[in-house]
Amino acid sequence: MREAKSRQRESEMDEEDGSATEGVFEMLKADHRRVEELFTQFEDADKRARTGIADETLRELEIHAALEEELVYPAIREVIEEEEKVDEALEEHHVAKLLIKELRKMNAGTQEFAPKFKVLGEIIRHHAEEEENETFPEAEKAGFDETELSEEFVQRKEKLMQKFERSGKKSSGQSRRRKAA
Ligand SMILES: [Fe+2]
Ligand SMILES: [Fe+2]
Repeated sequence: MREAKSRQRESEMDEEDGSATEGVFEMLKADHRRVEELFTQFEDADKRARTGIADETLRELEIHAALEEELVYPAIREVIEEEEKVDEALEEHHVAKLLIKELRKMNAGTQEFAPKFKVLGEIIRHHAEEEENETFPEAEKAGFDETELSEEFVQRKEKLMQKFERSGKKSSGQSRRRKAA
């Protein structure tokens, strides 16, 4: 018990001084689980709650995609034999972003929003599955060191989150009120 606690404290400290010890694939997988959970929450939520959930999902996805595109994919491309895997992943990001762009202009409580959001969820699920079952393991097999990028990854994520906070990107006019509620 005590050991678990001190381990926890250790990892918190790591976060504070920016020296992450977790591998990037682990962090990306945690993101995948998080957005999958959000897509499920959206389905179960009433119309009012949907705006906040959708807003968070889209923001999480945009930050995640940016991290992969800026840091992780280029590093994978360097080691992986099948570079087409990275090309396909980027194309899937592109399709997801088109949907995200449309969704951002819509109201999450409307009937038109739900099917588009659901399809985005399906694309993301498929995409994450391919990353986790094919692309990431292949990169690891080819010698990708997933802890090498960790520190940069954590720092960049922090910056992107701040940027999104500042720009107040949202899926509809109601999202700002979610936290106060
Ligand atoms: Fe991806
Ligand atoms: Fe991913």
